[in-house]
Amino acid sequence: MSNRNDPARRTEELVVSSNFIRAVRESGYVNLATALAELIDNSIQAGASEIDLTIARPKNGVYPVIEVLDNGVGMDRRELELCLKFGGSSRFDGRESFGRFGMGLPAASLSQARHVEVAAWQGSTPALVVALDVDAIVAGSPPALRARVAAPSSTPSGCRVTWRICDRIDYQRLGWLERYLCRELGRMYRRFLSGGLKLSLNNRLLEPDDPMMMSKFIKGEAATLAFAPLAYELRTPDGGLAWVHVRFASLPVHRWHDLDKITKRRSGIVGGGGISVLRAGREITHGWHLMGGKRRENYDDWWRCEIEFEPALDDHFGITINKQGIRPSAELREALEPELESIARMLNARVRQSFEDVKFQAAAQISCRVAATADPDLPLVGDGRGSGRGPLSYRISTTQLTPDLLFATSLNDSTLEVQLNVDHPAFPALYAPLQGLSEGAGVQLRTAVELLLLSLARASVDSGNGTDQLLARWSSTYGRMLQKV
Ligand SMILES: Nc1ncnc2c1ncn2[C@@H]1O[C@H](COP(=O)(O)OP(=O)(O)OP(=O)(O)O)[C@@H](O)[C@H]1O
Ligand SMILES: [Mg+2]
Repeated sequence: MSNRNDPARRTEELVVSSNFIRAVRESGYVNLATALAELIDNSIQAGASEIDLTIARPKNGVYPVIEVLDNGVGMDRRELELCLKFGGSSRFDGRESFGRFGMGLPAASLSQARHVEVAAWQGSTPALVVALDVDAIVAGSPPALRARVAAPSSTPSGCRVTWRICDRIDYQRLGWLERYLCRELGRMYRRFLSGGLKLSLNNRLLEPDDPMMMSKFIKGEAATLAFAPLAYELRTPDGGLAWVHVRFASLPVHRWHDLDKITKRRSGIVGGGGISVLRAGREITHGWHLMGGKRRENYDDWWRCEIEFEPALDDHFGITINKQGIRPSAELREALEPELESIARMLNARVRQSFEDVKFQAAAQISCRVAATADPDLPLVGDGRGSGRGPLSYRISTTQLTPDLLFATSLNDSTLEVQLNVDHPAFPALYAPLQGLSEGAGVQLRTAVELLLLSLARASVDSGNGTDQLLARWSSTYGRMLQKV
């Protein structure tokens, strides 16, 4: 007697459905967000302008039910009956947008749920629905991929995917899950959300979350582009050429360094660093990529990098069917890594320097305050037009000037700024050791030296251009002497 559950007997089938359906549940989606991204990708590719996600815990069930509803072009009966088949795609091996494998919808769905239904509608034809049920298939039933009539829908066309019995979602509270998804999907789809896509989760519209932080203003300042964007041209498998675009951003250390820890974490300053890789405008991974031998350090939170490519370059980025993470080819690494690594090292050094500057300025505030207190008793500083300015406030900062100059002075409104030249021999010989003195007599010595400079700067501004030559000669002579020490 033939046993229809005996895999060995079904020689005409390529896969043993009852086993395959269980095996495919382990298709490697790292989390709920990356699995949901397959559905959102499909909705966007179907031209949807609105996508509504709902997550609910059913009254009598333990496991949540998740629904993704869109107003895209929907599917006709033939497409719908194909969409839950593994390899069933209306765009197999296409490189125009997200979809290419015909695996995303069924594999992502089963990675999270034991039951999936897809309903679609177009124009005046009634809505149709197909379903896959893990337990029924394991028990030997054929998949219910023949379309049945479904409940009508309110939009002219669209698609609704429902995951039931989501037994793979690890969560304690629905609110926590919602927050996590808002953050992850807000980052992954930031380009589309900024471009007008309405993506909601349990009726709450998602906001774009850009790790580059260039439009996130905190204390009146946002991150800025660190360099002009870079572009690398690579060969595609069909002999064409396509571009990889790379941008780096620097976070404003001087404005944001003293934010409290919670704000830093919430706003993504801490924990939001790393390299974000976008495929066709959607983030597929966020972490430490293409940085050669450079290890990640805390300072690296203060610069960001975005690498973008189109699916034509999938082979170089090692894109697999679940479209999460990258495995760069040797050619890609050769083209990008050396430059990206050296930029990363340079940005790290810049951040380190910015933190040094911040520390330096905080300490220099003592002498600046002392000078400001003394200022009202001093004669006004001439502005070169016969009248005077004062009382002055003071600022000491660091900068890079020609090695001969000890410092540069500028008077803006009523603030006298002295910029110490880090490349003059006096910087390592005099200021750097002074910075190390943070207590008692050390602070007094430091203050006395800084006041010497501030008073010199004030006198030189007051005396006009005549003193420039003297200061330049003095700076250079002092530097030469120090070099003999
Ligand atoms: N929201 C949707 N609206 C319209 N058609 C859809 C939608 N979701 C899926 N489809 C159809 O179902 C097919 C299968 O989707 P699936 O995600 O499995 O594969 P794909 O998108 O073609 O490729 P990939 O595996 O790379 O995602 C698609 O090719 C498309 O025709
Ligand atoms: Mg897809």
